[in-house]
Formats: sequence, C-alpha cells, structure tokens
Amino acid sequence: MGRYEPPHGADRLRRFARALAADPVETLLYLPEEISRRHEYRVAYDVDTGWEEHLHRLLGAPWPCPETPHAAELWASVGRELHQGGLAFGRHTYGGYSDADESLARAVRCVVLHRRAEVVVETGVARGVISRYVLEALEQNGRGHLWSIDLPHPFHPGLHPETGAAVPARQRREWSYIEGSSRRRLPALGRKLGRVDVFVHDSLHTARNTRFEMDRIGRVLAPDGVMLIDDISTHQGFALWTRSADGISTLVCPSADGEGLFGVVCANGA
Ligand SMILES: C[S@@+](CC[C@H](N)C(=O)[O-])C[C@H]1O[C@@H](n2cnc3c(N)ncnc32)[C@H](O)[C@@H]1O
Repeated sequence: MGRYEPPHGADRLRRFARALAADPVETLLYLPEEISRRHEYRVAYDVDTGWEEHLHRLLGAPWPCPETPHAAELWASVGRELHQGGLAFGRHTYGGYSDADESLARAVRCVVLHRRAEVVVETGVARGVISRYVLEALEQNGRGHLWSIDLPHPFHPGLHPETGAAVPARQRREWSYIEGSSRRRLPALGRKLGRVDVFVHDSLHTARNTRFEMDRIGRVLAPDGVMLIDDISTHQGFALWTRSADGISTLVCPSADGEGLFGVVCANGA
C-alpha cells in the first residue's frame, strides 16, 4: 500500500462537509484541534535507546524480561489474523493514522503484566492492536478491565467496520468500547472510575489533545500508575505536561521503526 496522501483543496472540503453532516458535534470539536496545530513545535527530546531495560527497572520487573518472546509471537499473530481478514496492518494504513507501533505495544503489555493493572484506559482504538495487547495481558493476569474511548475516523467512514478487528470475541467481556472523542468522553469516564492504573494515549496526536488527556488522567492516576503516550515527536504536548508535574519519572522511547517517539510517565508514589 502506498503512503497516505492527505486530501487537499476541494476534496478536503467535501470530506469535512460530509463529516459535519454525519456528526456536527464531533466535527466542530475537531476544529480547534486543527487550528491549534499551527502553534505546535518539535522538542529536542533526550531519546533513551535503552528504554526497555529502564522501563523494567522503573516497574521493579526483571530484565531481560521473560515476556519479550511472547510479545513478538503476539505481534506476528495479530498481523496474520488481520491479513487473513483482508485488512491492512502497519504505518499509515488507517486514513492517515497508523496501527500501533510494535515497541509501544510491547511496553503496554509489560506495564499491564508487571503492574498487575486492574483499571486500564486507552484512547484511540482503530483496528485495536493495543486493545488486544492489553486484553491479552489482563487475561494472563486473571483480572482487570479495559475501557477504550475512540472516535471512529471522522473523515474515512469506510474504515469504521474495521474498528477493533484485532480483538477476538472471547476477550470482549473485559472490554468496554466507548464511542466518541476523548474531549467528550474522558472527563466522565475518569470521574466514574476514580482511579486509573494504566493509561494509553493513541488518539488525536495534537499537543492540545495530548495535554488534555494527560491532565484528565493525571487527576485520577493511581500512586503507582503509568501513562504511555504515543506520537510525541511532532509536538510539545508531552514535554509541557511532564515539566509541570511532580512526583513522576519519564522515559522518551523510539518506535520500533525509528519513525516516531512515545513517552512513558511513571508515578513515583508507590
Ligand atoms: C493512531 S490510531 C490508533 C491506533 C490503535 N491504538 C492501535 O492499537 O492500532 C488513532 C485512532 O484514534 C481515533 N481518534 C481520532 N481522534 C480522536 C479523538 N479526539 N478521540 C478519540 N479517538 C480519536 C481515530 O479515529 C483512530 O481510530
């Protein structure tokens, strides 16, 4: 599949008009996000190439991790299953978005396993690769639930039937899929849950939205909670939020294909 080319000019306007007609509230909520991109800038992060070992140290888990080979097997099965279902898998295959990065998926799985997380929240589902990794880890731990907030792609309705395709039926018992933008859904979910052990941001990667989500989850993050924030390389959101927070340790980690970065925040209050 060729690299995704964003629509321009009349095509872009047509897509926007269609999205506005289909869901005026979510489309209007998206406008300030798009405008805010004009004020985004890149941050010169100190990227940690030994992030995986350092993450395990922060989690108090053994390194080398005995779970690493299982994560690789899971990655291969997810890819195989999606391809068997006639679906794409990888970067830039979801209308400008990408399926999860393998390093992020592995990090999420280890955090959920080693922290024995009970309350996990994610934003941005797409085909559900991270959802699958979380649900596999919860199943292995024998406890816990995942809440996933996802706005199906506003400008590519043809992708909607692919939402969560990587999650098998048997794992859906411990999965609550909440449709809508994080701007609309996350505050109420945070209030309802009262405590979040692990949070994964992989929705709309603007600085504005990333900080909003981190701020909302920061209010209810468990004393030993962990946040994993994808795609931090294109904007300042992660840097600004972490700079203003106390009692945390952070890591900036390279994606498996070297194209992007994800950030980890571990609360130090355990
Ligand atoms: C990068 S993809 C997520 C990839 C996914 N985490 C995975 O495991 O493969 C981003 C997803 O977030 C959704 N999305 C976009 N804006 C959103 C918003 N404001 N709130 C929640 N989800 C959003 C997109 O439609 C898409 O499904």
